[in-house]
Amino acid sequence: MALVVDSLSAAYGDTQVLWDVSIRIEPGEIVALIGSNGAGKSSLLGAMSGLVKKRGGTVVYDGTDLTALQPDAIVRAGVVQVPQGRRLFNSLTVHENLLMGAYLRNDKEIASDLERVLEMLPRLRQRYEFLAGKLSGGEQQQVAIARALMARPKVMLIDEMSLGLAPVLVDQLLEILTTINASGVAILIVEQDVQTALEFASRAYVLETGRVTIVGPTSQLLDDPQVQKAYLGV
Ligand SMILES: Nc1ncnc2c1ncn2[C@@H]1O[C@H](COP(=O)(O)OP(=O)(O)OP(=O)(O)O)[C@@H](O)[C@H]1O
Ligand SMILES: [Mg+2]
Repeated sequence: MALVVDSLSAAYGDTQVLWDVSIRIEPGEIVALIGSNGAGKSSLLGAMSGLVKKRGGTVVYDGTDLTALQPDAIVRAGVVQVPQGRRLFNSLTVHENLLMGAYLRNDKEIASDLERVLEMLPRLRQRYEFLAGKLSGGEQQQVAIARALMARPKVMLIDEMSLGLAPVLVDQLLEILTTINASGVAILIVEQDVQTALEFASRAYVLETGRVTIVGPTSQLLDDPQVQKAYLGV
C-alpha cells in the first residue's frame, strides 16, 4: 500500500528540474518534503500527479504503476493533490467546489461523503452556499482540502498549505489533517514553514535543486546542524 517514487526525473521542455528523486510514503504515514524556493517541491508533486512530464523513473502505488497514467487516472488510483495556491473555482460556491472534487466518481456515496467531509470541516457548512472567491484564506484552504477529500484519497499530496496564513489558522488546518490521517489517509506535506512541517510529520525529505539530499525521521532532522542552519534559522 506504499506510494513509491523511484529515481524520478522531470523537466519543463529542455530544463530539467528533478534528478533521480526517490521517496516513499508508507500507509498511514505523514511525510514532510522541505526545501527552498525553486528546489522542485511542486514539480515533484506535479510529476507524481501526472501534471509535469517525467523524464525517467517510476511512481508506483500499492503495486499499480502510475508512471504513465493521466492525472485523472492517478486521482482514481487514490493519489490526490491539494495544489499550491489552492486553485479553487472562485466563482463557484463551496458546495459546487466540493462536488468538483467528486467529478470522477459515479458511485452513490457522494452525498454521504459530502456529509462526512462537512462533519470534519464544520466551518464549511456555514459557508456552504458562499462563493469560494469570497472566503478568507484559511477557509479557502479548508475548501481545497475538502475538495481533495471528495475524491476519496488514499494518499494526499498537500502543497504549501500554510502559505500566507496566521499561525492559529495553520494549527486548525493541521488538526484537520490529523483527523484525516487518523481515518487512514497517508499525507505528504510540502512546506516552506520547515519547523511546522518537521513537528507535524514523522519522516522528512530535503530537496535541494532537484535532488534529495537528506532523509530521515523528523526528530533527527530537527537536531541536524545542517538542517538547523539552512532551514530553521538556528
Ligand atoms: N511551468 C514551468 N515552466 C518552466 N519552469 C518551471 C515551471 N514551473 C517551475 N519551473 C522551474 O522549476 C524549478 C522548480 O520549481 P518548483 O515550483 O517545483 O519549486 P518549489 O520547490 O515548489 O518552489 P516554491 O517554494 O517557490 O513553491 C524552478 O527553477 C522553477 O523556476
Ligand atoms: Mg512550490
